[in-house]
Amino acid sequence: MTDAPAPKYAGPMRILSGAQTSGSLHLGNYLGALVKFVRLQDQAQCLYFLADLHAITVGRNPKKLADQMREVAAAYIASGVDPERSAIFPQSAVPEHVELAWIFNCVARLGWLDRMTQFKEKSGKHKERSSVGLYTYPVLQAADILVYKATHVPVGEDQKQHLELTRDIAGKFNHDFGVPGFFPLIEPVIEGPGARVMSLRDGKAKMSKSDPSDYSRINLLDDADTIVGKVRKAKTDPEPLPETVEGLAERPEADNLVGLYAALAGKSKADVLGEYGGQGFGSFKPKLADLVASVVAPMGDEMRRLMNDPAEIDR
Ligand code: AQP
Repeated sequence: MTDAPAPKYAGPMRILSGAQTSGSLHLGNYLGALVKFVRLQDQAQCLYFLADLHAITVGRNPKKLADQMREVAAAYIASGVDPERSAIFPQSAVPEHVELAWIFNCVARLGWLDRMTQFKEKSGKHKERSSVGLYTYPVLQAADILVYKATHVPVGEDQKQHLELTRDIAGKFNHDFGVPGFFPLIEPVIEGPGARVMSLRDGKAKMSKSDPSDYSRINLLDDADTIVGKVRKAKTDPEPLPETVEGLAERPEADNLVGLYAALAGKSKADVLGEYGGQGFGSFKPKLADLVASVVAPMGDEMRRLMNDPAEIDR
């Protein structure tokens, strides 16, 4: 992958991140987060949690929670997170996350949380019926990170605002309690063409677990035929691919598919357009479909193998 960050933080690195255990992970989660989880293992101590407390902020089926946790653990391992080198653990197994979140609830300001766009998107028109947990979720996220004094947090671009809030909370805590530098001001690790993967049905909407259309996303458990079918049906425009990256402006679907190819092939968008510029989607989509299937389908097979042995995943 081409998105190696140049760490800006000068002290020792400690990496922390996680994914909500709220349904099957998709290609956006993989490219935005898991790929970086794997790469960063070579650079520092890594802690990757299974965000089960975040998963209950919106209505969930309690009977499925344990299996969803195993599925996300299987996705981490199948994508290359090595449990011998990196800690993989349920968020709820470490009560200090929640204890620190309470302290941070008393540090964060209502005005800061009111600005969080993810809450606005997820609560939609029914803000008053949303859980309080959904509203304070970014405060728990700050605690998830800072309870370990993590320094670098690999995430997709949608989490950028929450990580800025984490920095604000750390700074205000350090100031208010008179302990300069006690909590580090974290560095987000967001770079690369996979940092924001968009829906296959709408290039302006993020690829998301909660999109009602399964055709909007590639799930990590999709088999090769399903992946090829989804890429074939992906929304596009009638123009051929442009020769330059500037030509992708105002063409969100084309931009997304070129970005996907780039992220998966470890190339830049300019390289991809150097190869495919001028060609129609009729010839580009099969190449993209093969590339996506060659990365995702074996990962799905490995996840199924791991999930067949729940006791081993629990261990
Ligand atoms: N579309 C995406 N492109 C790039 N990165 C993404 N991530 C999520 N969607 C994309 C990153 O994946 C990590 C885990 O995400 P999460 O489980 O915390 O869920 P989320 O960010 O709320 O997004 P989801 O997975 O699509 O769930 P819903 O439908 O509930 O919103 C994070 O690093 C995230 O940035």
